[in-house]
Amino acid sequence: MSGGNAAKLSTHHDVMGFYYNIKEEGEYSTMPTTKENLKGAFAGESQAFQKYSAFAKKAEKDGFKNVAKLFRTTAEAERIHAEGHFGASEGIQSTAENLQTAIDGETYEHNEMYPPMYEQAVTEGHKAKRMFGYAVEAEKVHAALYKKALEAVKNGEDLAETEIWLCPICGHIELGTPPREKCPICNANASVYVQIA
Ligand SMILES: [Fe+2]
Ligand SMILES: [Fe+2]
Repeated sequence: MSGGNAAKLSTHHDVMGFYYNIKEEGEYSTMPTTKENLKGAFAGESQAFQKYSAFAKKAEKDGFKNVAKLFRTTAEAERIHAEGHFGASEGIQSTAENLQTAIDGETYEHNEMYPPMYEQAVTEGHKAKRMFGYAVEAEKVHAALYKKALEAVKNGEDLAETEIWLCPICGHIELGTPPREKCPICNANASVYVQIA
C-alpha cells in the first residue's frame, strides 16, 4: 500500500476475513454484526482444523510424534470451535433442508467454482490442476448422491444403501456393495476404496 496511514483510507480493510468499512482514522463506520463474525470465525477455525491436521501428518513423517499429537489435539479444539460457531449461526436446519444446502453448495462448486479454477491451473501448468480436476468431477457425484438422499428423506425414509465407499485419492463416492471397477474419476484400483462411516 502506498502513501501514508492505511487507517486514514476510506476503504475496505480485510482483517482475518472480516471487512470493516474504515471511515476515518480509528473509526469504523460499520462494525460487523455477530452473524458476520460467526461467518468469519467459522471459516478461520475450519481452515485451522485442516492446516493443523496436515501439519500433524508432516510432523509424524518427520519423526516428531508428540508435536504431531499437539497438532492433532489442537486441530480437534479448532473443530469444536468451528462446530460451535456454525451452530450459533443457525447453520443447522432439518435434514431435508441441510441436504438442499449441500446440493446447492456442491452444484455451485462443480458448475461455477471449479471449472475456471481448473482452466487457470492448466494454463499456468500449476500442480493444483490435479485436485481441481478431481474435485470438479467428484462434486458432481456428491450433488447427485445428496439429491438421491433428499428424495428418500422427503418420503420419510433413510437412504437404502448401508455401505458408502470413498475413493481416498480423488473424493469419488459410490453407494452399495464394494466397488469392483477402477475409480471412474482418477482410475485408482477398486481396492483403494474405504468406508468412513
Ligand atoms: Fe463435494
Ligand atoms: Fe478416485
